[in-house]
Amino acid sequence: MSTFKKHIQQMGAYKPPLDGRDPDKHMLLDFNERTLPVSEAVCSALVDYIQAGRLQMYPAYGDVVDRIAEYANVPASQLMITNGSDQGIDLIFRAACTEGDEAIIPGPTFAMYMQCAKVENLKIHSPSYTSDRGFPLTEVLSLINEKTRIITIANPNNPSGTLVSREDIITIAKAASHAVILVDECYFEYSALTVVDLVGQYPNLLVTRTFSKTWGIPSLRLGYIISAQENILSLLNVRGPYDINQLAIVAIRAALENLDGIQSYVDEVMNESKPLLEQFLKSSGVEFWPSGGNFVWAFFDKPAEVQKTLFEQGILVRPKEDTDNRVGLRITLGSKKQTQYLLEVLGSCRGLGA
Ligand SMILES: Cc1ncc(COP(=O)(O)O)c(C=O)c1O
Repeated sequence: MSTFKKHIQQMGAYKPPLDGRDPDKHMLLDFNERTLPVSEAVCSALVDYIQAGRLQMYPAYGDVVDRIAEYANVPASQLMITNGSDQGIDLIFRAACTEGDEAIIPGPTFAMYMQCAKVENLKIHSPSYTSDRGFPLTEVLSLINEKTRIITIANPNNPSGTLVSREDIITIAKAASHAVILVDECYFEYSALTVVDLVGQYPNLLVTRTFSKTWGIPSLRLGYIISAQENILSLLNVRGPYDINQLAIVAIRAALENLDGIQSYVDEVMNESKPLLEQFLKSSGVEFWPSGGNFVWAFFDKPAEVQKTLFEQGILVRPKEDTDNRVGLRITLGSKKQTQYLLEVLGSCRGLGA
């Protein structure tokens, strides 16, 4: 018999379908990752660090918080680093919520929020995103009560790509001033929409970000939280002193030296690849949700057939259900060349549009 808490034994694990992904065999358009390798400078910094014989030492972060704060344009006192944004999300739930509290998690969305809410045994409300109205603002506002402890806003949302305006986030932060408003800006570089400048004004606002997506180091696990200084100090009481591994720090120091390289990848994805895919979908009569991220959620007439053909031609995409159990394929965008190949294969698929 397990000695763990009953509600935890009854939970399901968060198990993304990672098996068999191989960048030598597949074009990986299934996890919203950067589809091109990181720069030479980042690789050499990592190799140099390993060859310098330092792996036996515990991590030491130096001034990396200052460097990231400079990039994010916030005071360093408002920022802490985390082991991926998953850890940031987990820390915020753990530090803010107590069993019996209520969470508002509009869905479908990134699975981690539900997992954290379930671990804390919260009462979960999950109003639905819709393709025409986007974020369910009215429903969220009507669900707020004195037990509401946390409201999650993925901006843009995964898988729908939906953006939430700064005005709507402020409305929620004011309406639930007793609750944490967790704004997940994991795809910030693509959306260029942020509320980090508001954290001094709204002490209940917590923003999570990551170096996993645009920056291409999900394998090394580095994210950060931006919030009012008193929140950061509290969360630092919960995070372990060595939770972020040293190689992530080495990589990001090198990557921050080449912001132009990051921006040119973002520009190619957002200004070239994404319009190409959207144009193709429109002309093929395939419905898709407006997206602020490096991915598009497309509702093909026969999604399983389309996914199979893509797979046979070496392209991985991710099926995701909407709240009416309709399956859409979430397709990550990469370089223009990769997108042209994607469109060539999509063009040969049966069961695209109605
Ligand atoms: C909205 C959102 N937040 C957070 C994450 C996780 O990011 P990290 O790798 O930094 O934990 C993802 C990953 O898919 C995501 O889509």
